[in-house]
Amino acid sequence: MAVSVYRWLAQYYDHLCEFRRPFDAARETILGPILPRVESACDLGCGTGEPALRLAAAGLRTFAVDLSPEMCRQTRAKARRAGLPVRVLRADMRDFRLPRPVDLITCECDALNHVPRTRDLARVLRCVARALRPGGHFAFDVNNRLAFARVWNGTWFLEKEPVAMVMRSSHRRGAARARADLVWFVREGNCWKRSQERVGEVCWSAGEIRAALGRAGFDQIRCWDAAPFFRDPLTRPGNRTFWRARRREG
Ligand SMILES: C[S@@+](CC[C@H](N)C(=O)[O-])C[C@H]1O[C@@H](n2cnc3c(N)ncnc32)[C@H](O)[C@@H]1O
Repeated sequence: MAVSVYRWLAQYYDHLCEFRRPFDAARETILGPILPRVESACDLGCGTGEPALRLAAAGLRTFAVDLSPEMCRQTRAKARRAGLPVRVLRADMRDFRLPRPVDLITCECDALNHVPRTRDLARVLRCVARALRPGGHFAFDVNNRLAFARVWNGTWFLEKEPVAMVMRSSHRRGAARARADLVWFVREGNCWKRSQERVGEVCWSAGEIRAALGRAGFDQIRCWDAAPFFRDPLTRPGNRTFWRARRREG
């Protein structure tokens, strides 16, 4: 269910989603201090490839992983156009394997929240730890329960030619999951083509994330509230958190 939406959205994702700048600013703050020691990286839930392309442009040997075949195609095409050597693997973040360990794994824009069950966090973290060299880092961001309560709880409308989208979200107060029903209209000449899909997310408390990271073999765990990077009404303090953790050495 979680990934079916990206079969269609992949084509319009970059067109509709003009929110990269805060992620770039956060990446600079969070990864800046460790990047001088990073030679290889993997972006998990890579979407249309923006984070992976930036890593590759910085000279890192880069993998990109996504479950959606259409997102993988978009990332491959963009990397080819940009002349950047990104190796794209279609895989589920809950059981992916890389051909060789990397120094850094990223997972941006709440891709981690897209797993179907809250217990999948432990599965993803085990795979990430296996794919990192000892001392390597995992950096990710998540939507928190407050975002579900404040943002995933109403109707949003977005229009950007040739697409108009209505997103109706529902979240039961206190629940660890939320869903959004999306109805899209794409203008084709004088007609509008309609599509309808559903996106689901799950979330965890900061304590659950910290404990799961520890159990999966991570230390030096740090987190940052996303609000100062975003400065927009949708990202109020507490809505989204950036995390960075190191795979224990030895
Ligand atoms: C909100 S998009 C974020 C894309 C990208 N990280 C970015 O920053 O633009 C979430 C991405 O996660 C991918 N995804 C969802 N569930 C996944 C899973 N279990 N394994 C791998 N990728 C997954 C989706 O296909 C989608 O590309």
